[in-house]
Amino acid sequence: MYVSYHGHSVVKIETGGKTLLIDPFITGNQLTDLKADDVKADVILLTHGHNDHVGDTIDIAKRNDALVIAIAELATYLSWKGVRVHPMSIGGSYTFDFGTVKLTQAFHGSSYTEEENQQIIYTGMPAGLLLTIDGKTIYHAGDTALYSDMKLLSKYNPDLAFLPIGDNFTMGPEDAVTAAEWINPKLVVPIHYNTFPVIKQDPSQFIASLSGIKGKVLKSGEGIEL
Ligand code: NI
Ligand code: MN
Repeated sequence: MYVSYHGHSVVKIETGGKTLLIDPFITGNQLTDLKADDVKADVILLTHGHNDHVGDTIDIAKRNDALVIAIAELATYLSWKGVRVHPMSIGGSYTFDFGTVKLTQAFHGSSYTEEENQQIIYTGMPAGLLLTIDGKTIYHAGDTALYSDMKLLSKYNPDLAFLPIGDNFTMGPEDAVTAAEWINPKLVVPIHYNTFPVIKQDPSQFIASLSGIKGKVLKSGEGIEL
């Protein structure tokens, strides 16, 4: 399996001939190396409804006939836009042909903003993603604050954890170090930083502050074999 980072919270997983995209915010994402009109996806996984996570989901899903996996309210909203969805809720897991998805808690908001008519559509609870694929476990925290129940995630022995470090909207580097200690993954990769001025951070400094846990900064387009 090949797991790559594409700026902000965008993660791509290539496994068994399938391409999974997490939070494909491409249009308006200055940091991404992907192009919304040619990116391939069989499955799109969403952590929550904010526009910097839903991103280009509708266009990508329609063009690829991709399945969109999201929390129930967000899935319903997207189904009305004409995409194939699989709704889930926090604490639930489901085994798909590519692997198992479990939604975890996230302390954040979740809504989709329709700028054109100044509407905020609430889209249920925000979530994190716990994925078990090819015998490996990947945790994508989505947008979240630090919360003590993150300690529970250590029992899944994650091989890889994507943690937000941007601060302002999510935990910052200091809290992300605590999260990493509690979750205890084999490798931590920072996400959700430097996309906007208010979430400017130095990811190498975050990695340097980790003690006893390995971390790696992935540039947009870089990945690791897992
Ligand atoms: Ni958000
Ligand atoms: Mn966000």
